[in-house]
Amino acid sequence: MKIKIATTDPISFETEALVVLAIDGGDKDNNKPEFQAKADTFAKNANDLVASKEITGRLLEITTLHKPQGLKTKRLLIVGCGKAKNFTSYELRKAAGAAVRALKKPCKSIAMIAPSDWGGGAGSDTKHALLFERGGLPEIVKAIAEGAVVANTDYNYYHSDRKQQEVDEFTILVPGNANVKELEKAAQNGQIIGESQNFTRDLVNEPGNKMTPTILGERAKEMSQEVGLKCEVYGADKLHELKMGAFWSVTQGSEEPPALIVMTYEPAGAPKQPVLGLVGKGITFDTGGISIKPADGMEKMKYDMAGGAAMIGAMRAIALLKPNVRVIGIVCAAENMPSGKAQKPGDVQIAMNGKSIEIINTDAEGRLVLADGLHYARQLGATHLIDAATLTGACVVALGGVNAGVFTNDEEYFNRFAGALRKSGEKMWRLPIDEEYKEQIKSPIADIKNTGGRWGGAISAAMFLKEFVEDTPWIHLDIAGVAWQEEGVPWIAKGPSGIAVRSLVELVKSFA
Ligand code: BES
Ligand code: MN
Ligand code: ZN
Repeated sequence: MKIKIATTDPISFETEALVVLAIDGGDKDNNKPEFQAKADTFAKNANDLVASKEITGRLLEITTLHKPQGLKTKRLLIVGCGKAKNFTSYELRKAAGAAVRALKKPCKSIAMIAPSDWGGGAGSDTKHALLFERGGLPEIVKAIAEGAVVANTDYNYYHSDRKQQEVDEFTILVPGNANVKELEKAAQNGQIIGESQNFTRDLVNEPGNKMTPTILGERAKEMSQEVGLKCEVYGADKLHELKMGAFWSVTQGSEEPPALIVMTYEPAGAPKQPVLGLVGKGITFDTGGISIKPADGMEKMKYDMAGGAAMIGAMRAIALLKPNVRVIGIVCAAENMPSGKAQKPGDVQIAMNGKSIEIINTDAEGRLVLADGLHYARQLGATHLIDAATLTGACVVALGGVNAGVFTNDEEYFNRFAGALRKSGEKMWRLPIDEEYKEQIKSPIADIKNTGGRWGGAISAAMFLKEFVEDTPWIHLDIAGVAWQEEGVPWIAKGPSGIAVRSLVELVKSFA
């Protein structure tokens, strides 16, 4: 998708479709939705529909009008964006995305008016929109670009009758006095982030037979070459050399070799510290191993590498955006298979940091590969760690498909991440890791065990990881419930969500 910035008057802009936002109850005096920019021209076209309450401005309400009067566009798409006081970049991304998805079948080229200049009638409270208090027009343009790029993809690659139905050209219309150069930069940044999120989604979308650890390593390597990252992909020998007994225990039962993917971003002028360590779970298929999963729904476990894919996508964006800070991305990729060589419940494994682990359930494999990945990141010099993993079903029970779980051992680092979340618009919710939970992973025969019982399963998994980060500031993201969306929504295709990419990028940028 090509994204352009134009200062042309929307009234005279010729396009296949013009997207305009309507605020719910913006025009308080007349109890009507309010339109942005040239309000009168839009209102005139929408009069009857407003009167009949078919247009209210409700969030993501979409109305298409053909051959609108007084406009050069072929279609006018009116997208509701909810109440002004609730309107943030989060709603804007969704509105832009919903518009692209509504138009991507009939249209190749569309335009959207950046919500910078609302009609603002007498009773208008649109000035309170949160967006205007924060980043202003550049943040608005960036959010629109992110939303549009992410919305433009559908995951039907394996349908043999797949048609290419995408918007090729997306113009963001801004006021005549805007700083076009600055906004072009903002749009470009948004596009890089959106495309990197899509890169991650593409990886996650692939089934287990088309996305083995080896293939994941190749994809990371190819991408790294394109964007100028250093990337090494190691195999089983390296795992033995590094004494990664926890990682090895997961992959030992599989015919497919593991891949330890290490991507390094070292901008020339960056200070020696901080060094961010991004560590991802890359289980390309999780059968559960000897503690095998039930057949029903097992096919979903092809997305068990979504945390690793998020790190690869984030590294892509970082290499292109070039923040002045060092970053290491590590993905521990393996299959979790049952076989004559597979590890068994009761086995004791020695992790890279020397801790002994009693294996209670071979299906708790994500924490095993991450244990060595996190320790290795510290050894490579990471001063701040963040991991992402489709780690526990318990996190899905706790937070459903809306929020990812966040865990941390460092308040200051968490506050920084909370700022990144506000910028990215991704939903995550903090869960606790009090010392009391440590009891649940104590083992009679080893330092710790790899499961923590029935209650608080997402927390005991995080407690396990905590054993491998020592005192390094660390954030753990459990994305099991949000990495794959079963239900379609208007602003993004169902399937792989690409969760965490945008927040990881904002976190890294906050250090630069
Ligand atoms: N990959 C799963 C977690 C998962 C569940 C991801 C649902 C996505 C959707 C993980 O490896 C796993 O199997 N976890 C077990 C841990 C248990 C054995 C302690 C779980 O959550 O049941
Ligand atoms: Mn598992
Ligand atoms: Zn798993």
